[in-house]
Amino acid sequence: MVNTLDASFVTEGCWKPGLFEGKVVIVTGGAGTICRVQTEAMVLLGCQAAIVGRNEESTVAAAEEISRLGSDGCVLPLYNIDVRDFKQMEEAVARTLARFGRIDFVIAGAAGNFICDFAHMSPNAFKTVVDIDLLGSFNTVKACFPQLVKNKGSILFVSATLHYYGVPFQSHVGAAKAGIDALSNALAVELGPLGIRSNCIAPGPIGGTEGFRRLVQKDLRDKAIESVPLQRLGTTRDIAESTVFLFSPASAFVTGTISVVDGGAWHVGTHF
Ligand code: HXC
Repeated sequence: MVNTLDASFVTEGCWKPGLFEGKVVIVTGGAGTICRVQTEAMVLLGCQAAIVGRNEESTVAAAEEISRLGSDGCVLPLYNIDVRDFKQMEEAVARTLARFGRIDFVIAGAAGNFICDFAHMSPNAFKTVVDIDLLGSFNTVKACFPQLVKNKGSILFVSATLHYYGVPFQSHVGAAKAGIDALSNALAVELGPLGIRSNCIAPGPIGGTEGFRRLVQKDLRDKAIESVPLQRLGTTRDIAESTVFLFSPASAFVTGTISVVDGGAWHVGTHF
């Protein structure tokens, strides 16, 4: 007997309007370019969202703008929250629950970065980035864990590709992102029996992002883009598409994966 698809594959498929109606996502770093577009995609598909950041002005402004894509009040700005502080993340979760009543999805995206060679990197500089990226991701998921268990939720970490090989001046970020991949893999295995999925998205060279602006010098951009196998920079839409897939029922059997969205760049060793 061959298992065949039926019409529900289309009608109940991936990108249908209202796909995430009644669901709630909490997004750390939601005012930044990558996590902002991830939030926009979820909201466009009916999700309610809480975006978490340190800065009041940028977090409130982003929430206001994103909420125009969905229903009234569908995006809650949570500011003065540092992901390095577990108590503050617990507070963010409590305020999300007070407003929306549940959390189904987590995007752990808050990150810090700067270019610094090893010789000049202070122990505190290294620790700062590891704490924001890795410990912050742990704190985020940990604070949401009761809700994830209750709702058989899904986690998406924001990783990178620079730890697949050695990228100079990025030892702190490479170490932190490698840790995030390891954390996600462990949670996929440990939490899978609870119905919780855990995946990573690893953006490569995405145009217009803070990461790209900082990491690729202006005069090297054309050469860098030419070296990407798909011959272009990624777009925020590329990130949105993968994000929706990884939260949608289309990926119901997908956990413990790292979805690399980089046009094939890391395979040819292009440093982004
Ligand atoms: C060397 C630096 C430094 C720099 C800070 N430090 N900037 N060292 N070069 N450019 C050192 C400081 O001297 C200090 O060490 C330690 O780091 C902590 O600095 P603070 O300023 O006190 O930290 P904090 O206020 O917590 O700010 C964290 C930050 C900051 C990471 C330094 O830049 C930040 O808040 N960034 C968030 C936004 C961000 O970076 N977005 C980019 C995301 S892009 P000492 O020893 O002096 O005490 C991204 C892409 C990654 O993540 C993937 C790439 C492919």
